[in-house]
Amino acid sequence: MRTIVVMNQKGGVGKTTTSVNLAAGLARQGRSVLLIDLDPQGHSTLHLGVEAMGHVPTIYDVFAGRKTLAEVRQLAVDKLWVAPASLDLAATELELVDAADREVVLRQSIEAFTASQQIDYILMDCPPSLGVLTINALTAAKEVFIPLQPHFLALQGLSKLFETTALVKRRLNRDLRVTGILLCLYETGTRLAADITDDLLHFLEMSDAHAPWKQAKLFESRIRRNIKLAEAPSFGQSIFDYAIKSSGAVDYAALVEEVIAAEMGGQASATVPQAA
Ligand SMILES: Nc1ncnc2c1ncn2[C@@H]1O[C@H](COP(=O)(O)OP(=O)(O)OP(=O)(O)O)[C@@H](O)[C@H]1O
Ligand SMILES: [Mg+2]
Repeated sequence: MRTIVVMNQKGGVGKTTTSVNLAAGLARQGRSVLLIDLDPQGHSTLHLGVEAMGHVPTIYDVFAGRKTLAEVRQLAVDKLWVAPASLDLAATELELVDAADREVVLRQSIEAFTASQQIDYILMDCPPSLGVLTINALTAAKEVFIPLQPHFLALQGLSKLFETTALVKRRLNRDLRVTGILLCLYETGTRLAADITDDLLHFLEMSDAHAPWKQAKLFESRIRRNIKLAEAPSFGQSIFDYAIKSSGAVDYAALVEEVIAAEMGGQASATVPQAA
């Protein structure tokens, strides 16, 4: 099983678009996937047309200790479940402030879930902050994927993000590593995108050998700007159901291939049982 957190405290860089379409793409390739929506905006939930209004149990109930992940998850499409979020999740930041185990609530919930359920991938879509919800995700995950929009300020804020992963690794989760950086909203052929790629590779190269991002790679797949990706959420569909022939579907399918290829490369394979 692989547990992957999709994070960047910068807003609007493609976290949700990546979480949803990567999750849907993996499910299409026969992997069983649980996507946990950790953003009170509930964008992943809405994007997949999953219900989170009224009395529907959500991830908020999991943080409050009232429900288990198995009880809140909903099947979105074949092999893809969503643990939905709605606005009340915003209260979790405050409610957990005084809890002694506030950083490990999600990890414990995931451990309880995987003890009884067979699942190949758990993906977590984070809000654009480094608050307690994101810290819970980092504490529960083994891998971090960082979507990045090539923009002249793209690398600003990245060091804060990396520091946070280093801190969580040191204090809470020794297994944590940043495995991939994904360029989203990519404009092909621009000088800026090429410059940022160079700066990023240089930064990774110069990093301390023990840094959790030392092994991070820049995904070869790049997600080009494509209007179909922006339209799909309104239809409650992944890009594969909404516009399979679009460049957005092509790009996310390539990412799915890259992620699956890494199953053989040292990360636990979907078919290899986890060591006890
Ligand atoms: N490759 C793309 N081409 C066109 N539009 C895109 C692409 N990726 C994302 N978008 C659109 O850009 C906006 C921001 O993307 P998204 O919601 O995935 O970012 P986010 O990082 O999750 O944002 P937030 O920080 O608010 O959670 C959305 O309207 C989305 O539909
Ligand atoms: Mg989002």
